[in-house]
Amino acid sequence: MDILNTPNPLARLFPYLLTYRNKLLLGLLFVLLTNLFNVLGPLLIGSAIDRLKSDFSSAQLVSYGLLIILMAAGRGLFLFMVRQTIIVVSRDCEQDIRNDLYQHIQRLSTRYYKTRSTGDILARNTNDLNAIRSFLGPGIMYSANTLATFLFIIPIMAYVNWELTLVALLPLPVMSYMVFRMGKSIHHQYTHIQSHYSSLTTRVQENLSGIRVVKAYVREAWEIMTFTRLNRTYMLKNLRLVRYQALFYSLMSLLIGLSVVLVVWYGGSLVIAGKLTLGEMTQFVIFVGMLIWPMIALGWVINIIQQASASQKRINEILDEVPEVRDTPQTDPEIQSVKGFLTFKSVSFGYQPDRPVLKDISFSVTPGQVLAVTGETGSGKSTLVNLVMRLFDPDSGTILMDGRPLREIPLKVLRKHIGYVPQDTFLFSDTIANNIGFGVESAGEEEIRLVADLASIRENIEDFPQRYDTFVGERGITLSGGQKQRTAIARALLRKPSVLILDDSLSAVDTQTEDLILNRLKEHAESRLTIIVSHRISAIRNATHILVLSGGEVVEQGTHSELLAANGLYAATWEKQKLEDELKAIT
Ligand SMILES: Nc1ncnc2c1ncn2[C@@H]1O[C@H](COP(=O)(O)OP(=O)(O)OP(=O)(O)O)[C@@H](O)[C@H]1O
Ligand SMILES: [Mg+2]
Repeated sequence: MDILNTPNPLARLFPYLLTYRNKLLLGLLFVLLTNLFNVLGPLLIGSAIDRLKSDFSSAQLVSYGLLIILMAAGRGLFLFMVRQTIIVVSRDCEQDIRNDLYQHIQRLSTRYYKTRSTGDILARNTNDLNAIRSFLGPGIMYSANTLATFLFIIPIMAYVNWELTLVALLPLPVMSYMVFRMGKSIHHQYTHIQSHYSSLTTRVQENLSGIRVVKAYVREAWEIMTFTRLNRTYMLKNLRLVRYQALFYSLMSLLIGLSVVLVVWYGGSLVIAGKLTLGEMTQFVIFVGMLIWPMIALGWVINIIQQASASQKRINEILDEVPEVRDTPQTDPEIQSVKGFLTFKSVSFGYQPDRPVLKDISFSVTPGQVLAVTGETGSGKSTLVNLVMRLFDPDSGTILMDGRPLREIPLKVLRKHIGYVPQDTFLFSDTIANNIGFGVESAGEEEIRLVADLASIRENIEDFPQRYDTFVGERGITLSGGQKQRTAIARALLRKPSVLILDDSLSAVDTQTEDLILNRLKEHAESRLTIIVSHRISAIRNATHILVLSGGEVVEQGTHSELLAANGLYAATWEKQKLEDELKAIT
């Protein structure tokens, strides 16, 4: 069987269970006690029936009755305790696994996210985790119970009459075979269902994030149709599984029924022949009846295990993903800060091995300087700054920070000292203050006001009725593109970074505001390396070092005046943009 193959994906759960071993063992003890009380009932009934024939006072009958009720009460009590322990453990484990998974996901490299859809990751964190919980809770509880029931009932039955026991258990091998065959198919179907659910989640997630585009392109009807189709397939796949499971349970009941018939037929003949008392026969019928639920539970447990192992495999795929960019043995834990001496030495990089995006890039800058990167769209500007933050490692060449290869600097230290404003700003559904304070342990109001001022967003914020407590993002007001960019700049500045990276972060503000922000940034820039990516030369003409990228290569580099003198691509672009600005000024 699939699940018996090593290594079993479910082995991953063992350490989690081990943490709660005491509670779990207690739960298993309660399972045993439940079953003890469970078998005592029929034994009492059997002996009561046999004693009916002889001297049996009604008082004794009542005491038997009371005893039987007592047994049932005991059983109920322990059943309650079983749930209170094992199901609770499953919830505890689920919480631990969810935390670990989330922690791991947070550490994964940027590249991982570029190749996986968010919906798929979400599905694994929700649906698949639920399947695991079912296994840890009901799965373990019912398998322990089934095992215990068999261990208690079958020896007693065999002790009373082993031949009749054999007859009663005759359908058992057929049953095991069915469980084996059908379990395999259920596992297979379930894996398909889960991956289909991932597609469904992805669709929903992307639609919600891109709802504005959907509406702008009047695609609602189309999207609804696509979703309906996906949803229908999901239902059909589930229905098929349910039909299969229904068939499975009915066949199980049929086999159990067969057992009862066999007991009555063979047991009846034994009673007639005087080899079995009526009480014993009654016990047998009750015992076989008591085996029905555990037998069905067995099939159900097999399903749960199959589903859990399929789900765990999907979760393991995430857990086994090693963050591509991570601290290595070369990392020097002594390094506590970053100054901002940055050197690229023949750096080449590509997202795919055969398609280089950056080719042989070399330059060197120091704190206090402003490095500008310009070039046509798709020339590799964002890629270059991503390498500085070590979101990716270069394929060849080295990047040095303060004279040390980036790999030697602990990732946490490196990124803590870089203030990065991405090209597509992202604000969380939270207050403006918290958005600016993101990533800084404690940000005072005064500090937030200061950086808001530097980023020229302070006046805007203070015009909002709730000022810094204004909610932005999905549940709050919507900031304009330029306001978002400036909020993101304030966020980056709050970290007092040694390296400040603005990736086209002023594209949504007018040239005047751009000038204003750049001038304010200058005030605190002596000890910091500033990297500005921009298409607009007006934003970078004062930079100390300008890189002009084209097709992933540095085609020109130098200061504004040097580049103008060179009369190349940069000079041509400058002329063109100057003309455009003049035209704009006239109209
Ligand atoms: N995650 C990625 N996977 C594969 N290719 C990528 C990825 N990100 C960018 N690219 C490709 O790398 C090239 C450079 O992209 P990059 O984003 O660095 O350009 P850019 O200069 O910043 O452009 P823009 O001015 O439009 O922001 C492009 O051809 C782009 O298609
Ligand atoms: Mg870019």
